[in-house]
Amino acid sequence: MTEPQPPQPRLTLRSGAEGPAVTDTLWAQVGGTDTFERIVRRFYDGVREDPLLAPMYPDADWEGAIWRLRTFLEQYWGGPTAYSEERGHPRLRMRHAPFPVTPDAKERWLRHMHAALDAAELPPMHDTAFRDYIERAALAMVNRFE
Ligand code: HEM
Repeated sequence: MTEPQPPQPRLTLRSGAEGPAVTDTLWAQVGGTDTFERIVRRFYDGVREDPLLAPMYPDADWEGAIWRLRTFLEQYWGGPTAYSEERGHPRLRMRHAPFPVTPDAKERWLRHMHAALDAAELPPMHDTAFRDYIERAALAMVNRFE
C-alpha cells in the first residue's frame, strides 16, 4: 500500500496577498466571451457605416462576420477554439486576398477597432497588448497599394 500523496503545489511564478499570481489568459482576464462580443459588435457598428469598408462585407451576413471575427480574436487571446473548429487554419492573408485592403482601408479598419477598444475600457496593459496586435495584423493584411 502506498501512502496517500499530499497534493502537489501548483507552480506559480509569483504570489501575493491574494494568493497565487494571475496566470490566466488575456481572454479570461478581460472578461471572456462577453467582452469580445462587445468589442466586435461595436467594431462592426463602425464598419457598417463606413462607405469604403461596408461594401466589402457580404451584407446579408453581418452576424456571420461578427461570429468569425469574435471567435478568431478569442482564440488568438487564449480563449475557446471554436474559430478553428469551424473554419480550419485562419490563413488570414489568403482569406483577405479577394478584398482590396489598401492602406486607406487598413486605417479605416483600425479606426473602428480603436473606437471599439475605447468603449471597452480594458485594463491598460491588456488594452496596449490588444492594440499592438491589431496594428501589426492589419499592416500584414494590406494587399493593394493603388
Ligand atoms: C486591414 C483591414 C481589413 C479589412 C479591410 C478586412 C476586411 C475583411 C472582409 C471584407 C472580410 C470578409 C467578411 C467575412 O466573411 O467575415 C474579413 C474577414 C475576416 N477578417 Fe478581416 N479585414 C481587415 C483586417 C483584419 C485583421 C487585422 C484581422 C485580425 C486581427 C482580421 C480578421 C478577419 C477574420 C478572422 C475574418 C473571417 C475569416 C474567415 O474565416 O473567413 N481582419 N475581413
